[in-house]
Amino acid sequence: MGDIHFFIRDLKQEDLDKILAIERVSFRLPWSKERFQQEFQANPSDFRIVAVVDGEVVGYSIARIEITINIRRFKFYRRCHLLKLAVEPEYRRMGIGDSLLRETIRYARRGGANEVILEVRAKNIQARRFYSNRGFREVKYKKGYYLDDDAVVMTLKS
Ligand SMILES: CC(C)(COP(=O)(O)OP(=O)(O)OC[C@H]1O[C@@H](n2cnc3c(N)ncnc32)[C@H](O)[C@@H]1OP(=O)(O)O)[C@@H](O)C(=O)NCCC(=O)NCCS
Repeated sequence: MGDIHFFIRDLKQEDLDKILAIERVSFRLPWSKERFQQEFQANPSDFRIVAVVDGEVVGYSIARIEITINIRRFKFYRRCHLLKLAVEPEYRRMGIGDSLLRETIRYARRGGANEVILEVRAKNIQARRFYSNRGFREVKYKKGYYLDDDAVVMTLKS
């Protein structure tokens, strides 16, 4: 297979319509345009990147550093919540998702987070394999997290 050329840059407001199109074919309960706009406004320091091929956005990642408490140790710590990662179907299995994930992990480390956390549908075997092949471990099941499916919580510790 010939190499695909892509680069990664920060997400811009103008990318939103294309991201919505990818979102709709990638998730069973996609965020609406309003939800994206609301998240962008409420969380201006989120990490938001896109992958570009021939001037076209073909994938994106959105992540957020959160401060949380470890009850057992009674200590606060910073973790990176990966909220969205998706690649347009025709551009999958080319390494684009991997690059977006790597950049997101780099952001987490820069931000002092020692863990990346995400929820994935239990039925989304492909994504579960994608993450576990990249060092993530399945740490918890959330029954009924989605209307029609359970969630698997996966984490990567650095
Ligand atoms: C999960 C997802 C983001 C992965 O994106 P992607 O661009 O296909 O990711 P990659 O190409 O880096 O890797 C996918 C697989 O293709 C393989 N691959 C990468 N380059 C390849 C190539 N040139 N030839 C063949 N296979 C290749 C990878 O090894 C990987 O296999 P693995 O999952 O068994 O480890 C994508 O499938 C997606 O958007 N899914 C829908 C949304 C979703 O489920 N998101 C995650 C839940 S939040």
